[in-house]
Amino acid sequence: MAQLDRYSLHSQELVDPLRGYLAHLLGLITPGDLQYCFFTNGGAEAVEMALKLARLATGGRWYISTVGAFHGKSMGAISMGGKGAYREDYIPMVQQVQHVKFGDADAARVAIENLEAVGEKVAGLIVEPIQGEAGVMIPPDGYLKALREICDEHGVALIFDEIQVGLGRTGTMWRCDHEGVCPDIMTYGKASSGGLVPITGIIARPWTYEKSGVGTGCEGKMFENPWILGSPTFGGNPLACAAFISTIRYMLENDLPALSAAKGKKYLDGLQKLHDKYPKVLTTSRGAGMLICMEFPTDEIGHEVTKALFARKVMTAGTLVNAQTVRIEPPLVQADETIDKVLVALDEALAEVGKAYNLL
Ligand SMILES: Cc1ncc(COP(=O)(O)O)c(C=O)c1O
Repeated sequence: MAQLDRYSLHSQELVDPLRGYLAHLLGLITPGDLQYCFFTNGGAEAVEMALKLARLATGGRWYISTVGAFHGKSMGAISMGGKGAYREDYIPMVQQVQHVKFGDADAARVAIENLEAVGEKVAGLIVEPIQGEAGVMIPPDGYLKALREICDEHGVALIFDEIQVGLGRTGTMWRCDHEGVCPDIMTYGKASSGGLVPITGIIARPWTYEKSGVGTGCEGKMFENPWILGSPTFGGNPLACAAFISTIRYMLENDLPALSAAKGKKYLDGLQKLHDKYPKVLTTSRGAGMLICMEFPTDEIGHEVTKALFARKVMTAGTLVNAQTVRIEPPLVQADETIDKVLVALDEALAEVGKAYNLL
């Protein structure tokens, strides 16, 4: 709030110190040598920057993405998307993309090797460490590590899209911390400013900037135009930077990743009990930290349960074109009493829908 009394939006002609402070902080709380930031306003826009930087840094043109993926809906981001329903109407889009099965590192390796065999070069492999919008799809342990090795072997930039799973959501600061893997480029968004004002962006390892010549002071190739990657008018504005910096401070002071892990476990324990009570209605649940999902036998039943929950003032998140899998993604600071209330409402909703559909 104090930032509003200073200045909220910047001139593009001036370097704003808050942007530098924020980039420095992000370098401290992200894995490995991730440290070069570029700030944007929305998640899809951050993904665009990651895709463009991968091309500049590697000279490759192709991307590997995963079936079921969600990276946003701008043209580049949706080209990486792994759901036909969002892509079909825009084809042809970015053509140089191969989608491989999520969770299967060998599939990614084969795709890269096949492209290389026919003379193509891959710029980047983009993946959500947990697929969020696809329905909280958690890959097998070791998946991210294997992707890291493959990208190192082939000179491909590894891009983790942490827009949904990052900043404590899954019980660690970043989901890639869970496997101790550092990508070459990472996106962040959603939780960045604690819900106050949108700010998203990328953070990248030095080699990506050095090889691409983005910005000034890089060895190697230099672009005459330092704005080659992008120059969003409002990206990294002072108000958003101040909010992001405050969010990071709050997260560290209150260890929100640990809180998220504990509260997520409370949810999952409660959901397991409700599954035991209504196995034909709530068929399964899974999650990591406060990224949780429930599965129902059909889209219709999932929809009915979410309606019954909404009537009890509980809002959940479907998976956009499907309510068979429904996400619970509350604020990490949600009170334990609120979690208890949600579980009571869910108990009632499951009983109501189970009765209506003869599933008790
Ligand atoms: C993993 C991931 N990437 C990118 C996006 C796109 O973000 P935005 O909606 O801010 O463009 C989302 C949004 O849900 C997302 O979950």
